[in-house]
Amino acid sequence: MQLWSFLLAFTAIPILASSYQFNPLEHSAGIAPYFTPHDPPLQSSPPQGCNVTRAAYLIRHAAIYANDFDYETYLEPLVKKLQNTSQDWSSTKTLKFLSNWTAPIDEEHVEKLTRVGLQEARSLGASVRQRYRDLKTPQRIWSSTAERTAKSAQAFISGFTNDHTTLINLTQIEESKKAGADSLTPYKSCKAYSSSYGSDQSSAFGKIYTKPIIARLNAEAHSFNFTQDDITGMFELCGYETVIRGSSPFCSPTLFSSDEWLGFEYTNDLMYFHNTGYGRDLSPVLGFPWVNASVAALDDKTSSQELYFSFTHREVPPTVIAALGLYNNSAYTGANKVNGTMPDDTINYNRAWKSSEILPFLTNIGIEKMSCQSYGYGEGEYYRVLNNAGPQPLVGCRDGPGGSCSNKKFHSFIKERGDLFGDYNKACGVNDLPSSLSIYAA
Ligand SMILES: *[C@@H]1O[C@H](CO)[C@@H](O)[C@H](O)[C@H]1NC(C)=O
Ligand SMILES: *[C@@H]1O[C@H](CO)[C@@H](O)[C@H](O)[C@H]1NC(C)=O
Ligand SMILES: *[C@@H]1O[C@H](CO)[C@@H](O)[C@H](O)[C@H]1NC(C)=O
Ligand SMILES: *[C@@H]1O[C@H](CO)[C@@H](O)[C@H](O)[C@H]1NC(C)=O
Ligand SMILES: *[C@@H]1O[C@H](CO)[C@@H](O)[C@H](O)[C@H]1NC(C)=O
Ligand SMILES: *[C@@H]1O[C@H](CO)[C@@H](O)[C@H](O)[C@H]1NC(C)=O
Ligand SMILES: *[C@@H]1O[C@H](CO)[C@@H](O)[C@H](O)[C@H]1NC(C)=O
Ligand SMILES: *[C@@H]1O[C@H](CO)[C@@H](O)[C@H](O)[C@H]1NC(C)=O
Repeated sequence: MQLWSFLLAFTAIPILASSYQFNPLEHSAGIAPYFTPHDPPLQSSPPQGCNVTRAAYLIRHAAIYANDFDYETYLEPLVKKLQNTSQDWSSTKTLKFLSNWTAPIDEEHVEKLTRVGLQEARSLGASVRQRYRDLKTPQRIWSSTAERTAKSAQAFISGFTNDHTTLINLTQIEESKKAGADSLTPYKSCKAYSSSYGSDQSSAFGKIYTKPIIARLNAEAHSFNFTQDDITGMFELCGYETVIRGSSPFCSPTLFSSDEWLGFEYTNDLMYFHNTGYGRDLSPVLGFPWVNASVAALDDKTSSQELYFSFTHREVPPTVIAALGLYNNSAYTGANKVNGTMPDDTINYNRAWKSSEILPFLTNIGIEKMSCQSYGYGEGEYYRVLNNAGPQPLVGCRDGPGGSCSNKKFHSFIKERGDLFGDYNKACGVNDLPSSLSIYAA
């Protein structure tokens, strides 16, 4: 091509206008329909020369109408206030839709799975079956006893087996306060855990990023008197209404800008960081039992099961992420500035810890065991970790093809993590509760 026609070809295309479209649902933390990352660090399919021989997954339940806390704290008060306001929405700029908007949630549906959620769980089952088409259908999968985790598992089984649901048994593990680490909900019997960790930090930043939004919306709608909690409720409704009705006017780019969405996302990141992430030393201790039990299951020669799937609540996946050392803001910095990387008065845009990537409905963490004969690497067994189908190379454990970790290195990595995070009773401040997960061993 001649230089000048080359230039012409380029100038004819608006090369500076990006085709990227901001999607609020990918910045909604734990309130988002399932999505896989557009640009995972590594390819999702096995590295060249490798076959997956076994895999173990931990999966959050599918989309629900709302959780109790969000409903009681943000959604119900906002809906009531909207029902009882004298504000004329038709005279506003960005809030006209509120004249006709009706709430998608009522008391009765709180914590229940939505139809969209059930479909997504089914479709995850079908796509996982496709991914591991050469592996045996598992005899059993596991869930905690809550209705939303058990029903998510059943929908997943329907998708996986194409409705031959008797091919797989679901084993429900009680959400007991006495089970210690031997359950899919280890935070429930951990005295040192509190669901309110992180709320101070997140509401401190919430106050900052909502201030200009409140001023802007109050200027449009003089008699409503928007508060920080109203704004939080509106951001949350984008996700919840979408997983209930399929779409939501609260997701509109004319209502909240992408910068404002990043503020909402960051308040959530702060909350999860201090609640179940690196902000608290307890977090990896809560995640380690699943990691350890899964590795044992992948290596158990006495078991014929090749695939392991367990369904739990949103508290657990971030603790597993921390137990594995992934999404660590401090990684490769040569320091361990835990809280310094997550200031609560300003956004660290370059953080690794992004709850939206870790916590959508049906978020899943998988450990794959592979048999490899790959150019440039020794023949043998390798392991890798995937977050929502995107491989996440382990820090200091990635000597294999495609960022995977060799058998020997992987087992010493897991042992090291166990030495650091294996003492459930001590970290939780409890006595003599089971400190490991044994559900896969039976
Ligand atoms: C409805 O609004 C009126 C006037 O603003 C107020 O006095 C009343 O307490 C409100 N009722 C409820 C149930 O919030
Ligand atoms: C609200 O509904 C009424 C009646 O269906 C319609 O005339 C009006 O245009 C709607 N307003 C908005 C903002 O959608
Ligand atoms: C499921 O459990 C039942 C009762 O324990 C058993 O009879 C059946 O064989 C199991 N099915 C599979 C696929 O393991
Ligand atoms: C607006 O809401 C705030 C916070 O709830 C409250 O303190 C204030 O009195 C309200 N202002 C008006 C004019 O209703
Ligand atoms: C980080 O902040 C949390 C919550 O304030 C605190 O419990 C924890 O000790 C802090 N971690 C470090 C390493 O300072
Ligand atoms: C996070 O990274 C820092 C820096 O490498 C490291 O010191 C720390 O142990 C890591 N945290 C966890 C829980 O792996
Ligand atoms: C992977 O599977 C293919 C097809 O079954 C087989 O030809 C190949 O030898 C396997 N490779 C390894 C390393 O097991
Ligand atoms: C980890 O697994 C090993 C062997 O499978 C077991 O002996 C150990 O108790 C487990 N530790 C924890 C903390 O789960």
